[in-house]
Amino acid sequence: MTTALVTGGTSGIGLAFARRFAAEGRDLVLVARDRDRLAAVAGDLIDRHGVGVEVLVADLSARDQLQSVADRLGDASRPVDLLVNNAGFGLKRRFVEGELAAEEQMFDVLCRAVLVLSHAGAQAMIRRGSGAIVNVSSVAGFTAGGSYAAAKAWVTTFTEGLACELRGTGVTATALCPGFVRTEMHQRADMTMRSIPARAWLDADELVAAAMADVRRGRVISVPTVRYKVAALLARKGPRAVVRRVTGSRPRSRH
Ligand SMILES: NC(=O)c1ccc[n+]([C@@H]2O[C@H](COP(=O)([O-])OP(=O)(O)OC[C@H]3O[C@@H](n4cnc5c(N)ncnc54)[C@H](OP(=O)(O)O)[C@@H]3O)[C@@H](O)[C@H]2O)c1
Repeated sequence: MTTALVTGGTSGIGLAFARRFAAEGRDLVLVARDRDRLAAVAGDLIDRHGVGVEVLVADLSARDQLQSVADRLGDASRPVDLLVNNAGFGLKRRFVEGELAAEEQMFDVLCRAVLVLSHAGAQAMIRRGSGAIVNVSSVAGFTAGGSYAAAKAWVTTFTEGLACELRGTGVTATALCPGFVRTEMHQRADMTMRSIPARAWLDADELVAAAMADVRRGRVISVPTVRYKVAALLARKGPRAVVRRVTGSRPRSRH
């Protein structure tokens, strides 16, 4: 029996990972802030699949709570074989106009938590000679889409470097770069997504199935679906001035 730790495992992409791992018979450690929701998801997965589910209530933007999750990853008596750094959120406001505190909180969850948990997870996995780390990034990381995109660019580059360091250890690292996925993320951020065509949206379960196929192949960057592979290629290889014009914030109209 193997164990997977999923941050943000109560909703959206994280919940899809948790459901898939439970269906495969893996035990789970789920991390999120909402205690009642964690308990409800854990109860459901235990009932459906008979796996062990441990819950850790932690706000990953708080250093002490993040450290408690890192300590769990480092506990040699309860090894974690698969780490999915997934928890995250977006902000509706433009960077300059928004509150810096909210930006710092997003940076801490999207980047610092990934840094700290990858460190703890990789060290423990290397000692055992096996394991996999999946860091949920985004195709936004190839664009000029503000501080969220910058954080995801960091996640992708960081994961590439980690994967290089891990070569020959039996441990892999994969940056999962989805396009738009139907989850609670945009609603939580009060973002209106009406302009996004229906065909652009991905299903979280299908996304996770494709991601885990890439993890098994040892892929370092996973961009599920042909349409987002093409979008990522254009954003990565296209002239940056064009990428900025298409994906960057519009200048504020002056009256
Ligand atoms: N949806 C998309 O279109 C999309 C596209 C590309 C990448 N992504 C990335 O996918 C990841 C998952 O997002 P999602 O779309 O599945 O969002 P979601 O449905 O809103 O789920 C977010 C999860 O993260 C947890 N979380 C949020 N802030 C947290 C914090 N401070 N500490 C601990 N847990 C926290 C939430 O639980 P609590 O609220 O209980 O803490 C929840 O379980 C994110 O990294 C996001 O950037 C999403």
